[in-house]
Amino acid sequence: MAGKDRGPERGPIRESLRLLLPLLAAIALVVVAVGVVTTRTTRAWFESELHSRAVLAASSARQGVLSAYASGDSRQLTFLLDDIVHDDQVVAAALCRIDGTLVTRTPLFPGDGEFCDRSRISVANWRGTRTGTQSGVITPLDGGVPSHVSVTTFISALTVPVRLVLLQDFEPAIRRETLVQRWAMLVFGMLAVASSLLTVLSSRLTRGGLMRRLTVALRGESKWWHDGDAPLIDDVRALAQRSTAAAVEADRDGRWTRSRLRSVLNEHVREESLVILANREPYIHDSVPGGDVIVRHPASGLVTALEPVMRACSGVWIAHGSGTADRQSADANGRLLVPPGEESYRLRRVWMTDAEEQGYYYGFANEGLWPVCHQTYARPVFRRSDWDHYRTINERFADTVLQETTLDDPIVLVQDYHFALAPRMIRDRLPRATIITFWHIPWPNAERFSICPWREEIVDGLLGSSIVGFHTQAHCNHFLETVDSALEARIDRTDNAIIRQGGRTMVRPYPISVEWPLRWTEAVPDAAACRRQVFEELELRDDTILAVGVDRLDYTKGIEERIEAVERLLERRPTLIGRFVFVQLAAPSRSEIPQYRQLRDAVEASVERINGRFGTEGYSPVVFLRAHHEPERVFRFYRAADMCYVSSLHDGMNLVSKEFVAARDDERGVLVLSKFAGAAHELADALIVNPYDMEEASGAMERAAFMPPAEQAERMRAMRAVVAEHNVYRWAGRMLLDAAQLRARARRTLNLSGFPMHVSTE
Ligand code: G6P
Repeated sequence: MAGKDRGPERGPIRESLRLLLPLLAAIALVVVAVGVVTTRTTRAWFESELHSRAVLAASSARQGVLSAYASGDSRQLTFLLDDIVHDDQVVAAALCRIDGTLVTRTPLFPGDGEFCDRSRISVANWRGTRTGTQSGVITPLDGGVPSHVSVTTFISALTVPVRLVLLQDFEPAIRRETLVQRWAMLVFGMLAVASSLLTVLSSRLTRGGLMRRLTVALRGESKWWHDGDAPLIDDVRALAQRSTAAAVEADRDGRWTRSRLRSVLNEHVREESLVILANREPYIHDSVPGGDVIVRHPASGLVTALEPVMRACSGVWIAHGSGTADRQSADANGRLLVPPGEESYRLRRVWMTDAEEQGYYYGFANEGLWPVCHQTYARPVFRRSDWDHYRTINERFADTVLQETTLDDPIVLVQDYHFALAPRMIRDRLPRATIITFWHIPWPNAERFSICPWREEIVDGLLGSSIVGFHTQAHCNHFLETVDSALEARIDRTDNAIIRQGGRTMVRPYPISVEWPLRWTEAVPDAAACRRQVFEELELRDDTILAVGVDRLDYTKGIEERIEAVERLLERRPTLIGRFVFVQLAAPSRSEIPQYRQLRDAVEASVERINGRFGTEGYSPVVFLRAHHEPERVFRFYRAADMCYVSSLHDGMNLVSKEFVAARDDERGVLVLSKFAGAAHELADALIVNPYDMEEASGAMERAAFMPPAEQAERMRAMRAVVAEHNVYRWAGRMLLDAAQLRARARRTLNLSGFPMHVSTE
């Protein structure tokens, strides 16, 4: 914070105090403990010494005392007692009868016989035996100087037993005890202070040295560790890099942007450029009647996400040249610079025959893998001939990677289910490449995936990657489970990695997103103007509640269910008839596949039915616009609408939901979102529904239709914050940071061993 002064010199002092204060507290405790222990020990020593003296004095006097007592010679007794107190320690002595009465005493012996009765002497702990000498210390109640008292019973055949009671001065013992105690505390205190200072000093010195050496090692500039420590250094480095990345991400001002992504690339991946392998090309050149060539932007989530990344990073995008004028718009090798007029990266088109396209794209990818990966009750079809084409095209793309890079360790981003075999093929050709494969659709559980006859080959192909990414952790888990059941491989569950044949593949979730700000939002007018234009085009009443759906015409998108939900809405809320209009922008897709054609027919029939049921002259509740719609047009509809319904029956992420949110800078409009789209994990402020549940879906549309503007704004603001933060630059940046880490590790391994190793090998 600006106002707070955090002088740099305060850091080390605070840090030392943090170490010192607990240390000093510990020292104080130690010194007190030492004091208590020395007091107890020295006191025990002194008591034992005085006890021995008493025993000695009594045994020396025993014979004389007994014979003088037996003969009744009181003079002799007094003489003997005086003799005992000549010892400079014994201050008084008395002889008592066994019944506790006094026989005689020296002048300083206190009282008239109280000390003859042992039970009246207040000693806490007597030492010695009852028949010999017993002794202890008595402390006067007034807190005066304590004395040592001993009682020795003399038993003889000559006479009845008598007791010799001696009092010894305890003050010298106390003095010595205090002295010992002070010295001990002083010495221990000094030792403790010295050792704590040494600890602080050595920790600072050691840490300073360690940090310096660690820094050098982490930079890969020196090899000061043993070979066996290299993995540890790698882990430290990985940790440091991860926490740096997290810290940068945590900084709101440090939001991922196009320029930040570029600088990550420059800093970590240096001058090397990216190679992207994706079936769908970002710009399709088509001939139109009259001989003109137009450029189309395909309706593709993958293109929506990757194109801004390529604009930021440069490099080459290798794709299927599918446009009717693609050949004539590229050079002899199928290369051209894009985007048109901006030319910030290269597009490399790969050609294929109709039969190859049929087998590889329509067949294996879209009739086989697509339905296997989506839980939508479409039966997957696997044909041997499709598989052969799929393999051939994967080989062709892998060869093209080789043609498009001059490096032996490029970063290759392999995209989607069209290229499951390519990672292994690229690895065989370029062992040191960093291959990041991103799977844009869901990965099913192991049991479901096992219906694919070539599941081992598919999984092995993917394991040629350094990193395999999915939208969600659940898809990562399904993939690990599939690997486990399909192949012999070691799975490192702590690091979510697969180790196989000396290679290591990391499996990570990277939720995909859109660019922020989204360039199409700048290309279209504001919400009010868009609404005017759309209402005019569709001839809608001013009070119309407009809902939109934007999709490829695909059975995974739940378009039939969506139209059915609109029907249910009009049934349950008849006042909406005439006022509620649902516009479906549907881009034709994969229409070579029978299931897609059936879907088109089914949707058209539903639209006809509902419009026949609720429509009137000049009013159709559902407007079905089956055509390719350029992004500007799509964004106009996003901005014009009161709500957008995304009803995917199963979807990896679904970027339509994020595009809608990005379009609504007026903070209006409601998103109704299927819980089966990956986006539902992030956009919690949408109205989340089960698209199969007509009551719930129609209820949510009804709620959206009447949602107060303040609630719309609150929800939209929250969703916009999420999409702004979790944008596509972050998606790509995080993958590239992980890749950079692997590359740095591979470089160090190379430096250490002198042998080339491929990047994913440890
Ligand atoms: C799905 C895939 C994308 C693909 C899109 C369009 O969303 O995950 O990777 O771009 O469908 O499919 P298409 O077959 O037209 O490329």
